[in-house]
Amino acid sequence: MERQHTRTSGRVIGIAIAAALGGFLFGFDTAVINGAVDALAADFELEAALKGFAVSSALLGCVAGAWFAGSIANRWGRVPVMLVAAILFLVSAIGSGLAFGVIDLIVWRVVGGLGVGAASVIAPAYIAEVSPARIRGRLGSLQQLAIVLGIFAALLSNALLAGIAGGSNAVLWWGIDAWRWMFMAEAIPAIVYGVMSLRLPESPRFLVRKGDYDRASQVLLDFTGEPDVNLKIQQIRDSLDSEKRESLRDLAGPVLGLKPIVWVGLLLSVFQQFVGINVIFYYSTTLWRSVGFDESSALTTSVITSITNIAVTIVAIILVDRVGRRALLLSGSVLMTLSLGTMALAFSFAELVTAADGTTSAELAAPWSIIALIAANLFVVGFGATWGPVVWVLLGEMFPNRIRASALAVAAAAQWVANFFISTTFPVFSDISLTFAYGFYAFFSLLSFFFVLWKVRETKGRELEDMEG
Ligand code: GLC
Repeated sequence: MERQHTRTSGRVIGIAIAAALGGFLFGFDTAVINGAVDALAADFELEAALKGFAVSSALLGCVAGAWFAGSIANRWGRVPVMLVAAILFLVSAIGSGLAFGVIDLIVWRVVGGLGVGAASVIAPAYIAEVSPARIRGRLGSLQQLAIVLGIFAALLSNALLAGIAGGSNAVLWWGIDAWRWMFMAEAIPAIVYGVMSLRLPESPRFLVRKGDYDRASQVLLDFTGEPDVNLKIQQIRDSLDSEKRESLRDLAGPVLGLKPIVWVGLLLSVFQQFVGINVIFYYSTTLWRSVGFDESSALTTSVITSITNIAVTIVAIILVDRVGRRALLLSGSVLMTLSLGTMALAFSFAELVTAADGTTSAELAAPWSIIALIAANLFVVGFGATWGPVVWVLLGEMFPNRIRASALAVAAAAQWVANFFISTTFPVFSDISLTFAYGFYAFFSLLSFFFVLWKVRETKGRELEDMEG
């Protein structure tokens, strides 16, 4: 039995890693723009508003990609969605790299966003559907590990390419500027993802839905080490209620038009963004400069923060199937509330400094600069070990089989809308005051604690067939 476990675990880990590669591209694509944006803004002579839109436009693609991934996954399967996402990533990487002007650059960024959105839906659904219940949380967390590795890889490749060229605006190879190579670097993981997805087995839950019981049995046997495959197939059939084709209409329910479980998924997504994590990632340089770093050490600090995020994701992988999802989320909410509250307090001591070009920025003096620096890193630790991975794990597993792909698509689309809201409002919030901005995120961290306490059910060790709607 033990040997059987080890053999199937080995195989399923392999396919979970392959599926999680979508997360790597998700992280890479959302982070790559940071290193490129100043250089492309200079090349295309962009004003602030258009520059901001060049950054945030991809998020609109993410919303649409997440929204449509659910129905494609139900019609054609989970694996074709990964292949389509890989192609979108590839096209966007080359297109953005060779863009003639800002308009087509924005179009290519939206195309990449479609891929990110689709990958954000399909990786958690697929991983949950092929994993044995006892290690499902760990395998699901691999997606978040891939996301943070992708963010790190983008930061690193941006720094390397700019370093070799002597600036992101400088010409690198074949007469092409470094910032263009930053985008084109993404073509490599996109091709790897596409090739690997061709080798992945289709999800047994999807195969049962299509009535292909033979292939479903084979996949269950090979990957989950299921002791009684026929019984499992029967359970999946029962849970699917196979008479009906799944559609967005199945999500309908009594609470403001949706089933309560769909609301729980949607709000988990919104809270994950409203605690403000991406403000740290997208605007990190601003934050570190306000605590007294110059530009290059601010960049180094961002790299360190992203390494911290990688390390704590590993902590989550170890804990998620032991202590469970709820305990991790609750402790994360506490740590985030305290650290964000501390940052809000620290920035109330900031001094507004006006630079020669007329721009103002908040600056902190010791000891508050040190306190803010520590608090910001504790916040990343608190998020990265809990809400970052656990929300993706839960979204993959918490919905009943019949509505999984559609419900996940709606929750993920809501997450991208929330991400868009938080990242476009931060400059406005910080103009009001940084205390207001961090206070806002602290408030939502506190609310997230009560939301989990009252509304989120534990899924650790439960079979997907036992998830209630
Ligand atoms: C989660 C969030 C994503 C964020 C990342 C950072 O995956 O969904 O928006 O960028 O964590 O760790």
